[in-house]
Amino acid sequence: MKSEDSDPTSESRPRTERDDEAQALTGRTLTSIDELRAAVDSCRRCTLWKSATHGVPGEGPAPAELMLVGEAPGDSEDLQGHPFVGPAGAVLTRALQDAGLDRQTVYVSNSVKHFKFEPRGKRRLHIKPSASEIEACHWWLDEELRLVSPKLVIALGGTAARALLGHAVTVSQVRAAPMRLNAASYIWVTVHPSYLLRIPDDAQKRAEYSRFVQELRDAVAWINRKTSHPEK
Ligand code: URA
Repeated sequence: MKSEDSDPTSESRPRTERDDEAQALTGRTLTSIDELRAAVDSCRRCTLWKSATHGVPGEGPAPAELMLVGEAPGDSEDLQGHPFVGPAGAVLTRALQDAGLDRQTVYVSNSVKHFKFEPRGKRRLHIKPSASEIEACHWWLDEELRLVSPKLVIALGGTAARALLGHAVTVSQVRAAPMRLNAASYIWVTVHPSYLLRIPDDAQKRAEYSRFVQELRDAVAWINRKTSHPEK
């Protein structure tokens, strides 16, 4: 699970005590989500930490029946240290509410835990994490899956689907159908809320938003069916 940019000793700066501490914290199996939350900020598995303000761990109850995974923290998430608290987070929270779900009851996380961006004047423009950054960060996602042990993981967009499945998929081809992820969990792929924000046409935006909400409702109905008929 190592990437070419994950080793702090390969950098030109001298290795520090903080690097050793970070490696000790992030190289072993964790015993609780609280421990994981504290350790993410010290992660040095790739180089994104260098320009980020915070490592942004997942948030929510553990265990939880439903876990949502996005791509990576954006500008607001990086500054606040919490996942999905910016514009895409507002869409996600509203969609969860419209689907009858309280966000506090689901575990919300990201494929990559540090913000990747390009400075543009006073703004910081989001950049998609690379395959090696997704791979380096997968250790955290695996630990979250183990500690949260969800029945269903909703992958929000292609990056999350790829991070969880370990290979690229076309979202439109696998959308809203449960697939086995591991012994404990299934995965359900849908769009990322920021896709909804980018749709320029209002009517299409409303239609796509309704589809997204319906998929969240369908996911919950699937969990309920699975709970009452686990063999199906
Ligand atoms: N987009 C994501 O994928 N995750 C966040 O936390 C915010 C925006």
